[in-house]
Amino acid sequence: MTTPIEGFSKLSKEDKINYIAQTYTQHPNETVAVLKQYWSADEKLQNLHDEFIENTITNFYLPLGIAPNFLINNKLYAIPMAIEESSVVAAASKAAKFWQTRGGFKTTILGTEKVGQVHFMYQGDTEKLTTFFKHVKPRLIQSVAPIVKNMEKRGGGIKNIELRDKSSDLGDYFQLHCTFETLDAMGANFINSCLEGFAQCLKEEAQLYAPFTDKEKDIEIVMSILSNYIPNCVAKAEVSCPVSDLKAHHGITAEDFARKMVRAVNIAKVEPYRAVTHNKGIMNGIDAVVLATGNDFRAIEAGAHAYASKDGRYTSLTHASIENGTFKFWIEIPLALGTVGGLTTLHPLVKLALEILQNPTAKELMQIVAVAGLAQNFGAVRSLVTTGIQQGHMKMHLLNILNQLGATEEEKLSLIEYFKKHTASHSAVVVAFEELRNKK
Ligand code: MEV
Repeated sequence: MTTPIEGFSKLSKEDKINYIAQTYTQHPNETVAVLKQYWSADEKLQNLHDEFIENTITNFYLPLGIAPNFLINNKLYAIPMAIEESSVVAAASKAAKFWQTRGGFKTTILGTEKVGQVHFMYQGDTEKLTTFFKHVKPRLIQSVAPIVKNMEKRGGGIKNIELRDKSSDLGDYFQLHCTFETLDAMGANFINSCLEGFAQCLKEEAQLYAPFTDKEKDIEIVMSILSNYIPNCVAKAEVSCPVSDLKAHHGITAEDFARKMVRAVNIAKVEPYRAVTHNKGIMNGIDAVVLATGNDFRAIEAGAHAYASKDGRYTSLTHASIENGTFKFWIEIPLALGTVGGLTTLHPLVKLALEILQNPTAKELMQIVAVAGLAQNFGAVRSLVTTGIQQGHMKMHLLNILNQLGATEEEKLSLIEYFKKHTASHSAVVVAFEELRNKK
């Protein structure tokens, strides 16, 4: 049995690799070779990546693709997407091209408010706590003045602090519900530093507040942390065109296509099993741009799915309608994104992705990301209600299967041609590949 290791983090990178290779893998020499194969030859660049996280042993590549021809508010963008799933970039590009000739994407920002909370326990008279809060609120704000100074200079800062009584949900539980404007920064560090400042000030001031009993003075701070639920930090993206401008798809008329699209979205609105997959398709587009631009896709995922349940039932993040002969398709999605700080200037590919996007502000990036989600959803639902998803998927997957089988370039070209006229399933590809090989 393997025994636990003490002080793994203190080992050199080389020793970490050897330990893992020898303890956990069948062929240690091969393991070491595979890991080193993914190191950058540029030592400085490799060191940079090593220091992004802890215990780094190598790099884990994701392809970075480009979906061109996105017309957003009359400006043309090529969108960088980092993702491992085939079809996503192709679907985004196809949707971009489709809408480019139909007015493009229109976007707006519905809000940019970020949220953080100080969670605390208070045992005593709630009215006294409310009076104490009014007395202490200016001091709370004052206590973080040095942290907020620069953000305020640029037009951001603390928007509000509210005392919220949560004691009917959990005995003695209260919170400071705080809102912020963090401009082009995602703001996690700024918000968390402010919250920890508020918490310390709250605790100290409570100790000094004469009307409190000893028990009331003893406020227990449980935690201070930003929230990834940001229902007032939302971007909206939409496309619309006369129904007659939607081209006929695979034997169905433009009118039927529009009706099928709306019906599919309405199914995702009322049926959570479908809504989860529908929204997953949206997140294919969103996460890929969020990752390429060095933002935190876990935060975006958590916030998006919470937003999808904001009315008490998990539902679709996109909407579709046909009104007076116009087809309209839109998304509203919370996106806490940054274009300064974090990895934005540190990771060379993130820096480049932002440059390709014309160095957007956070608000502009929110709009671009919302568009990527909408385009992805349009592409997925269009396939679902017309050809079915497998046709496109398997074509894209074909290359992956052929690579796995070790097909030569010549064999790939021949089989791609063959599968233009035949249904591409995994087993069909294997059979066709073997037949082609055996013919030689
Ligand atoms: C696959 O990654 C995403 C889809 O399942 C999305 C959808 O069903 O809408 C195709």
